[in-house]
Amino acid sequence: MIIMQAHKLRKEYRQAKSKLEVLKGIDFQVNIGEVVAVVGPSGAGKSTLLHILGGLDEPTGGKVLLDGEDLYRIRDVERARLRNEKIGFIFQFYHLLPEFSALENVMLPALVKGDIKRSRSASGPSSLLAQIGLKNRIRTNPASCPAGNNSA
Ligand SMILES: Nc1ncnc2c1ncn2[C@@H]1O[C@H](COP(=O)(O)OP(=O)(O)O)[C@@H](O)[C@H]1O
Ligand SMILES: [Mg+2]
Repeated sequence: MIIMQAHKLRKEYRQAKSKLEVLKGIDFQVNIGEVVAVVGPSGAGKSTLLHILGGLDEPTGGKVLLDGEDLYRIRDVERARLRNEKIGFIFQFYHLLPEFSALENVMLPALVKGDIKRSRSASGPSSLLAQIGLKNRIRTNPASCPAGNNSA
């Protein structure tokens, strides 16, 4: 079953006099449970594509369907809800919040959603951190975690 579909995606960046066409009509789909890697040289447009697929940046043309919903034909607040509930991001530069502990950073999406129960559940954030070997660091801030200073 298809979870995400891109149709004729285009993205161009315009500067004063120049136009940079980064995505030129991309079609693809991802099925539930499928693992997909987007591979290409630096500057090829991988981040641009992922930002658009993740509902973070609007395409110049084409559309993205996430679980049947047309990501850029819905209101911003609806798109924010879909991002919160259906998409997980691991950014190249982390974008963790330094004022919060590792645990609080992982809890945030559930807290933003107002799901206090989930944010504190045994199978939730603390268990996820334990799975990646950070059990002893859940109370520390991200900069103190391994590779947490964004310099990796
Ligand atoms: N906000 C932006 N404004 C103008 N040009 C951009 C912007 N973001 C990316 N680019 C340019 O678009 C191209 C693709 O960038 P990017 O998607 O970051 O590639 P990758 O992630 O594959 O390295 C690059 O030439 C980059 O300089
Ligand atoms: Mg990139």
